[in-house]
Amino acid sequence: MQISILLVTLLGMAFVAAAFVFVVLNSGPRDEDYGGIAKRGYFIRRWWMIGLCAAGVVVSAWSLVPFPLQASSVESPRIIQAIGRQWSWELASSSVEAGEPVRFRVTSLDVNHGFAIYGPDDQIIAQTQAMPGYYNDLDVTFERAGKYRVLCLEYCGLAHHTMVAEIDVKERR
Ligand code: CUA
Repeated sequence: MQISILLVTLLGMAFVAAAFVFVVLNSGPRDEDYGGIAKRGYFIRRWWMIGLCAAGVVVSAWSLVPFPLQASSVESPRIIQAIGRQWSWELASSSVEAGEPVRFRVTSLDVNHGFAIYGPDDQIIAQTQAMPGYYNDLDVTFERAGKYRVLCLEYCGLAHHTMVAEIDVKERR
């Protein structure tokens, strides 16, 4: 997925660069024939807009989001408090069942942290901010059993990289 995002980004950059080169090559001394230039400008602009819209449709249909967008809130999920502090995570429970809707209630005791859950394949599956004085709800339903990890995604001091917690997702009983 990350690769396809990279490819799309590179394609987009190439497109912008090509447009830039096109404009540079086509610019020149001022022409007296304003009418013709305007007509041509409108023509290019129209096709540019149509192209942009088409690209937008393709990209959204392709759903180029690295993790699923948060679905509408789940009925009566299991609530798990998650507290970040320099430099550890404290989860009220670190054991859940696959398929069980979970709502992480995320906060921090000191500075801002990034609460990010990574799957057994080290792909990020969900994330939110851990902020002092606020609770951010993060709804997650773990589809597969395995060892998941919570990492801090926001630099929060010397031992930021040690903020790791494990979530053990068990096979559905
Ligand atoms: Cu907490 Cu970085």
